[in-house]
Parts: sequence; C-alpha cells; structure tokens
Amino acid sequence: MIIGVPKEIKTNENRVAVTPAGVAELKKHGHQVYVQAGAGEGSGFADKTYIQAGAEILPTIEATYGIAEMIIKVKEPIASEYGLIKENQLVFTYFHFASSEELTHAMIKSKAICLAYETVEKSDRSLPLLVPMSEVAGRMSIQAGAKYLEKTHKGRGILLGGVAGVKPANVLVLGGGIVGTQAAKMAAGLGANVTIMDISLARLRYLEDIMPTNVDTLVSNEYNIREMIQNADLIIGGVLIPGAKAPRLITRDMLSSMKPGTVMVDVAIDQGGCFETSKPTTHADPVYIIDDVVHYCVANMPGAVPYTSTLALTNSTLPYALQLANKGWKKACRENHELQLGLNVIHGDIVYKGVAEAWNLPLVDVDNYLELETVH
Ligand SMILES: NC(=O)c1ccc[n+]([C@@H]2O[C@H](COP(=O)([O-])OP(=O)(O)OC[C@H]3O[C@@H](n4cnc5c(N)ncnc54)[C@H](O)[C@@H]3O)[C@@H](O)[C@H]2O)c1
Repeated sequence: MIIGVPKEIKTNENRVAVTPAGVAELKKHGHQVYVQAGAGEGSGFADKTYIQAGAEILPTIEATYGIAEMIIKVKEPIASEYGLIKENQLVFTYFHFASSEELTHAMIKSKAICLAYETVEKSDRSLPLLVPMSEVAGRMSIQAGAKYLEKTHKGRGILLGGVAGVKPANVLVLGGGIVGTQAAKMAAGLGANVTIMDISLARLRYLEDIMPTNVDTLVSNEYNIREMIQNADLIIGGVLIPGAKAPRLITRDMLSSMKPGTVMVDVAIDQGGCFETSKPTTHADPVYIIDDVVHYCVANMPGAVPYTSTLALTNSTLPYALQLANKGWKKACRENHELQLGLNVIHGDIVYKGVAEAWNLPLVDVDNYLELETVH
C-alpha cells in the first residue's frame, strides 16, 4: 500500500504519526512510505533518518496527500486539509467528530474512509489509541495546573504540596479513567489533597484500592460536584462518554461559588469540554479567565511534549496501521472488531452511532460496507 505521512499543521503540534522505526516496519511488509519533508522534526526525527529507514521524502503536503492510499496522521484535519483528502482515501488519525460539525460535513463531502483513533475499542471497552495520549495529558494537567495556580498567572498563589505547617492544595479530578488516574497520581505524588469523582462505582473501588492515602474517591453527581468545587484549588476535567460530546459537569452559575484564582484544566475539551465555560485554546495562548476562574483548555496537550507523545502514540498505532496496510481496510476491519469500531465515516455515510447522534445525521450500518458474506 502507498502510505502518506503529512506534517501536522495545527498550531504547536509537533508530533508525527510514524517514526523511522515505523517506516522500517511498514517497508519490511512491502509498503511504500512517503513522508512530508520536516514532518518528524518537531519530535526529533530528521528527514535523513526517515530516508535511512526506507521512506521517500515529499516536499509538500499536497504531494503527500496526492500520492497516498492511506494517510496516517495525528490530529484531525483542519480546514486547509479538507480539500486534499480524496474519495476512497483511507485516513487514519484522531478525528473527534462529535466535537466538530464542520469537520463531520467536510469528511462526508470528501467520500474518504475515516478511521478514528479515538473510537478503536477493545472487547473490555478500553480505547487503546486514546490511552497513551490520555496518560500524557493526565500527567501534564497537573504540571499545567500547578503553573497556572501561581499568582503571576492569576492563580490562587498556592503550592500544590504546601510545606510544613501549611496545608496542601485541594485537587478535584472529575473522571477516574486514564486521564483522571494519571492526574491523581501526579497530584498525590506532589503532596496535594486529591479527590477523584466518577459515576462508576467499580472504578472508584479499584482506585480506592490502588491510590495513596491522600487520594479520596467520591461518586459523581451534581450535588457532590457543587459541594466539592467550593474548596477546590485545581479542578481537572477528564470525563468521557466514548464517541459522544462530554457532559457539562460544571455550569457557568457554579463558578461564583468557587474561590477566586481556582484553576480548571478541561482535558476533555477535545470532546467539547466538561465545563460549560470551556472553549478550546492552544499552547500559544492556553488560558483565559471567567468569573475569576482560570480556564486551561488546550485541545492537544500532548503536542507540547512531542518526544514522549510521538513514541507513546506510535507504539500503539503501528500494529493497527500494519493490519490496515497489509489487508486493506475492509478485510482488516472485518477480521479485527477493534479496528472496525474505529470506522466513523465511509464514502459520505456516518457509520458510528455517537457521531450520527451528535449531529442528528442518519446512521448507516457498517456491514453494508464491509460486505460480510451471507451466512447460510
Ligand atoms: N486535551 C487533550 O490534549 C487530551 C488528551 C488526551 C485525552 N483527552 C480527553 O480526555 C478525556 C478523558 O479520557 P480518558 O482516556 O481518561 O477516558 P476514560 O474512558 O479512561 O475515562 C473517562 C471516565 O469518565 C467517567 N465519567 C463519565 N461520565 C462521568 C460523569 N458524569 N462524572 C464523572 N465521571 C464520569 C467514566 O466512568 C470514565 O471512568 C477524553 O475526552 C479524551 O479525549 C484530551
């Protein structure tokens, strides 16, 4: 298969979807890999390293999209890329369709096959291509939160761990999944008082068992959230309903009950955000303030640590990319249900329920496209 790896063009996005090691692996299986010049630079991979691994370097993004049967990238295509995506082209990347109606319609129009990293799902319901980035973002959320709690950044001026004779900060983590667990671990490690809230009692039981003693668990409901935010210094939003818009757990009216200078990090912003007042920001301008509450809503947090993120992401995506390249998307998706669940848009039809529901569009049965043999 002919594979194209474009350079990411979203603001401050320095990750790349395939490393030189990935190129070597794809080549070993007989595929041709075209990498856009400079695509790996931000992650520390020079063009010559890709060439040594067997890739060919193309000078422009147009050439890269133009030649490829399969595009592998990191972030969802942005407006300037919409027109480059061709009918029948397989695009394997994060899409987060449920948070962008414009992107959804653009991909419908393209008639491409859109296989979304974020909805590839294992039988235990875990999301293997979200996990590595969630680990990075969860850990980063505490680093970012600690920084914006400093007075010069308009935060409360509180040190997460406190010092002898001074109480530590209160960190509230909404969602006890991957992001929430990693955030809680980091915050607890720095000595903060941490509370994790989730709607899953089973998850809370597990967390209660494995977390250090400065981490409490609490069931998530509006009443408890209203109470907890009054004493929180740092709030991390890490909830997820797979493939759907994030639930709005903190509404605008609640902000007035919070302490001035509280910091809210909405990691779930890539699914629309779990605070009503959240709007996506970038690493170039990550925060804004509403009602004295500092909002940090960077939609691609792992982009700031591209070295770690690229290796973590590609460790997980490469085995799936290989299946797609070796078998073609139909056979690969027929034979691997995890991959099949990644299919979101095919030839202009929505085949993923959460996306169809988010934008009130018709849902088409994916089997229509996978050409399943009739069982007699
Ligand atoms: N901004 C970024 O750069 C970035 C990076 C990685 C992940 N993310 C996003 O972070 C979010 C969380 O990802 P994850 O991997 O931790 O997901 P996850 O599925 O592991 O965890 C989500 C948790 O939220 C819980 N939840 C659902 N509804 C809830 C509610 N009303 N109250 C409390 N908890 C609730 C679920 O029970 C689950 O435990 C996702 O939206 C993901 O896309 C963002």
